Amino acid sequence: QRGMGRLAEVPQIVETLCAVLGRRGDLAGKRVVVSAGGTQEPIDPVRVITNRSSGKMGYALAQAARDRGAQVTLVAAPTALPDPACVEMRHVTTVADMREAVLSACAGADVLIMAAAVSDYRPARVAAQKIKKREGEEEEGLLLHLVKNPDFFLEVPEGVLRVGFAAESEDLLANARVKLEGKGMALIAANDITAPDSGFNVDTNKVFLLDRKGGVEELPLLSKYEVGHRILDRVRELLSGPAPS
Ligand code: PMT
Repeated sequence: QRGMGRLAEVPQIVETLCAVLGRRGDLAGKRVVVSAGGTQEPIDPVRVITNRSSGKMGYALAQAARDRGAQVTLVAAPTALPDPACVEMRHVTTVADMREAVLSACAGADVLIMAAAVSDYRPARVAAQKIKKREGEEEEGLLLHLVKNPDFFLEVPEGVLRVGFAAESEDLLANARVKLEGKGMALIAANDITAPDSGFNVDTNKVFLLDRKGGVEELPLLSKYEVGHRILDRVRELLSGPAPS
């Protein structure tokens, strides 16, 4: 039902209160862009290539930044989550959409935090019609030719403080450090996805924070909202230090 006097849903009231109470927080006046969710690359009008990201980590980060006074833009690949209150939403589907939305939101932003799981590959050709099963294809199966997507992290303007995530199933810290340095990030959250209560589609997360000075901070298992705050504590420190390069 709609009409004058209808009360907003309780979670929305609570979130709005958190946003209002946080207006004078330590990120007041800062513009923060967060990406969340798993991008989808179409195969045909019915099927997509995607991954297990639920969007929970990115949404929690956006809420945490909002609750510390930041002006937040959340670039969200498809998720089942409701839009957070008092956050500017950009809904996207493919990597190309996410690239455009992130790069345009980064103009004039102070911080970018990429929690999204971005598809590394997409089908070279999207079939205009639904691909049908064919008789006699049991032997060879259906072959999909995949091409690489652009890694737009490298295109983000240098003045924006860049924070990334690395979801790894092996050699967590070594792989995360390669991404931190190769992608010009100031900080990376190395995300162990082998534990059942960490990583994709759960409410908690276990991460290590790696910085450009060689520092490694191991965080305990925390709610994703709390992980968001711990990342933002580090962002706050980095913003008050020398300008990012
Ligand atoms: O959504 P949830 O269910 O809560 O799960 C959270 C999460 C596990 C998805 C999240 O915490 C996480 O780890 N996200 C990063 C996933 C990942 O492995 O990213 P990557 O290693 O492919 O990329 C490294 C960084 O570069 C990421 O910050 C990514 O957003 C960014 N990237 C990647 C590819 C690309 N083409 N462009 C990018 O900017």
